[in-house]
Amino acid sequence: RMPILEQCYNLMDFEAVAKRVMKKTAWAYYSSGADDEITLRENHSAFHKIWFRPRILVNVEKIDLSTTMLGTKVSIPFYVTATALGKLGNPEGEVVLTRGARKHNVIQMIPTLASCSFDEICDEREGDQVQWLQLYVNKDRAITKRIIEHAEKRGCKGLFITVDAPQLGRREKDMRSKFSDVGSNVQNTGGDNVDRSQGAARAISSFIDPALCWEDIPWFLSVTKMPILLKGVQRVEDVIRAISAGVQGVVLSNHGGRQLDFARSGIEVLAEVMPELRRLGLENKIEIYIDGGIRRATDIIKALCLGATGVGIGRPFLYAMSAYGLPGVDRAMQLLKDEMEMNMRLIGASSIDQLDPSMIDTRGLSMH
Ligand code: FNR
Repeated sequence: RMPILEQCYNLMDFEAVAKRVMKKTAWAYYSSGADDEITLRENHSAFHKIWFRPRILVNVEKIDLSTTMLGTKVSIPFYVTATALGKLGNPEGEVVLTRGARKHNVIQMIPTLASCSFDEICDEREGDQVQWLQLYVNKDRAITKRIIEHAEKRGCKGLFITVDAPQLGRREKDMRSKFSDVGSNVQNTGGDNVDRSQGAARAISSFIDPALCWEDIPWFLSVTKMPILLKGVQRVEDVIRAISAGVQGVVLSNHGGRQLDFARSGIEVLAEVMPELRRLGLENKIEIYIDGGIRRATDIIKALCLGATGVGIGRPFLYAMSAYGLPGVDRAMQLLKDEMEMNMRLIGASSIDQLDPSMIDTRGLSMH
């Protein structure tokens, strides 16, 4: 029997339920990582190398989890990151995540390869709810320009250009399950003539431009007023270059372990990046986000202590949505809030701005 929603006590519980109830092909697409899935595994386990140095005797009666991301006030420092093909897990697709994000006052990043159309996902927004757009850059820049202009017109507040996927990684679990119907809204992608024997990911990604490079960044800056961020940065040199290029932020990410196997985890890269930015006096020039393997509020707290503005969470919300629909997403987000409030109290911080590097011990990370 499938556990009832109230029996899910943490984000891993949703994954276990999703694995049991999802269609095999959908599970394969969501859960898979590249090659031997070493990076996929490392993403979460890297957090286990960081320990806390809590402060005592801090007044933690009231905890304020709110913070600001790209100028938007949010209730807790995570956002729903972009994950393609929402309808594989739930017939309603990404709009379920829009509703969950609204209820909890967090930001949703809309994927280029959503199952719902971009406009459906925007239409689902209410009030001053905020969405960002994740962009795969098309070989045909006219298409890309149209997508960007449309997103800006529809009120998107951030453009996240994915830079870790000049070619989609080999996710063998997904390839073995051989999609016949990827259920995608590919109208914007210009992706036709695709080979579906290679799994869902490959089938929908042939339009992505592998020639994308630093020289293209000025063009992006010239076609939109939205803040531009690079998603998938993996070394401090590229963060520094991103600052010179004039973008407003980066996401230290390895695409959920789905691209380069043996890419380091976002948290490990963050531990490399922040001290160097501080040394150069650049830490306030750019917003730094990380994603990958965030499953516990303690993971979020560790990233914030190191200096991240916020974190992206992908699979857990897909699994919650696939297993239980909106109530699942709602509960997953609430569990994170509850965990976060408790752990902030236990670490001795009553608000996000009180988190700093002295509150963690990173000596277990490989760079030390
Ligand atoms: C992704 N991710 C992703 N990223 C992106 O830039 N464009 C995309 O279309 C997708 N699609 C996608 C599908 C699925 C099923 C997954 C699991 C992931 C990567 C995503 O934005 C993010 O980097 C990771 O999901 C973060 O890791 P966790 O939270 O899933 O561990």
